[in-house]
Parts: sequence; structure tokens; C-alpha cells
Amino acid sequence: MKMILLGAPGVGKGTQAKFICEKYAIPQISTGDMLREAVKAGTALGERVKSVMDSGALVTDEIIIDLVKERITQDDCNNGYLFDGFPRTIPQAQSLLDEAIDIQCVVEIAVPDEAIVSRLSGRRVHVGSGRVYHVTYSPPKMEGVDDDTGEELIQRDDDKEATVLERLSVYHLQTEPLVSFYQNLSEEDGSNLRYGSIDGTGDTDTIRENMLNILDEFVSKNDSSMG
Ligand code: AP5
Repeated sequence: MKMILLGAPGVGKGTQAKFICEKYAIPQISTGDMLREAVKAGTALGERVKSVMDSGALVTDEIIIDLVKERITQDDCNNGYLFDGFPRTIPQAQSLLDEAIDIQCVVEIAVPDEAIVSRLSGRRVHVGSGRVYHVTYSPPKMEGVDDDTGEELIQRDDDKEATVLERLSVYHLQTEPLVSFYQNLSEEDGSNLRYGSIDGTGDTDTIRENMLNILDEFVSKNDSSMG
């Protein structure tokens, strides 16, 4: 199963991705996590992208497409994967079509911009695993440390309010057009792509249930259409 989670920064893609990947036993491919790892490791790629990420802008399509193409050749992708934060531009989405990568489900998570600023300012992350917390909405058992490893949680450099506002504006300009791009693709004759949108406000467990229900429905429709 190959899936895409679409949505603005902070709508909960990373949070929901963990549940989906566990249920379907597929890897989460987060281009944001991959880029942050490169920055942390001080690689040439990390050095190229750090200032772009800190500003809230998008890394070039060329870099991202190469990164994803290489990632999906790895063995853990044999039974599918979940893209989180990719594609983010029409050329990135087009690259999947050009490579004949058959995405079966695209789900958008929708949250108003006002709610996003408070979510991101309270976000804390465990760098090693990508586990995500929120100081109020989803706090760790012990303040400042990861539940599983006991390691320190960090606040991302791009979660400052001014950068969050820039990321939201970049989202509306460059990524939101993908909503109609995928809606239109799903409506084409013979398409086996399913498109859905869920409300990302409310508690995480309810959103998780709605997300898994919609994916179950998509998967069973795809299974029956393939005979
Ligand atoms: P990336 O890491 O992909 O960031 P993003 O898309 O901006 O997404 P986030 O990780 O900020 O949010 P999320 O939706 O995963 O929310 P989360 O679950 O953490 O990208 C970072 C940068 O890398 C980009 O700006 C760009 O420079 C570059 N980049 C990456 N991919 C690229 C690409 N394809 N092309 C070009 N450049 C690229 O939740 C947020 C917070 O809310 C958490 O604290 C969480 O606990 C809390 N929360 C979650 N659900 C709820 C809920 N229901 N109620 C209350 N709080 C909640």
C-alpha cells in the first residue's frame, strides 16, 4: 500500500503517520525527518538545506526528488510506504507520475491556521525516533524526556512563531494546489487512486479512528476493484 498524507505544517501528519505505519506495517517516509537527520549529521546535503529549512521555505524539488527516489529503493519499502510531507509541490507530485509510482490513497488532514500556531509552539520532538509530543495536548510522562528512551526532547528551530507563519504561507501557495491535483486524479476514469479529507481538529484518538476508518474503506475498495 502506497499512501500520501497531505496537510499544512502542524496538522498532525507525523502524529497520525505513526498509527498508520504501525497498522499497515509500512515505513513512514518523512522528507522533513530525512533532511533534519542530514543537518544533524553535518552532511553536505545538511549544509545545503539548513538555512532554507530555518527560514520556512521549501528545499528545491531536485534535492527532494533525488532523496525520495533513493529512499524507496530500500528493502523496507517492498510492501509500500507512507509519504509524510512529500510531495509538497506540483513538480514533486508529477515526478511520482513520471516514475509510474502507483499511489493508492491520499488523505488530507485539515486544520485552521489559527490552531496550527499553538500546536507548533508547544511541540517537542524525540530526534532519534521522530516521536512527537505537545507540552499541553500530548505531554510526555516526564517533562522534557522521551517516554521510551528517557532521552531529551527538543524544540525544532523552525517552530518559532514567525517561521511557522512563513511555513503556512508557503503551504497555501505551493502545496495546497495538490489538494485539487489529487482530487482530479482520483476522479479520472479507471483511476485506482482514492482521495479523502479528514478534520484534524479535536483529540488525537478520534482523528486516528477516523483516519484508520477511511483508509480501511479505501483498502477494501481497492482490493475489490482488483478482483
Ligand atoms: P516537515 O518536517 O515535513 O514539517 P511540516 O510539514 O511543516 O510538518 P510538521 O512536522 O511541522 O507537522 P505535522 O503535520 O507532522 O504535525 P505533528 O504531527 O508534528 O518539513 C520541515 C521543512 O523541511 C520544510 O519547511 C521544508 O523546508 C523542508 N521540506 C520537507 N519536506 C519537503 C519537501 N517535500 N519539499 C521541499 N521541502 C521540504 O503535530 C504538530 C504538533 O501538534 C505536535 O506537538 C503534536 O503533538 C500536536 N498535535 C497533533 N495532533 C494534535 C491534535 N489532534 N490536537 C492537538 N495537538 C495535536
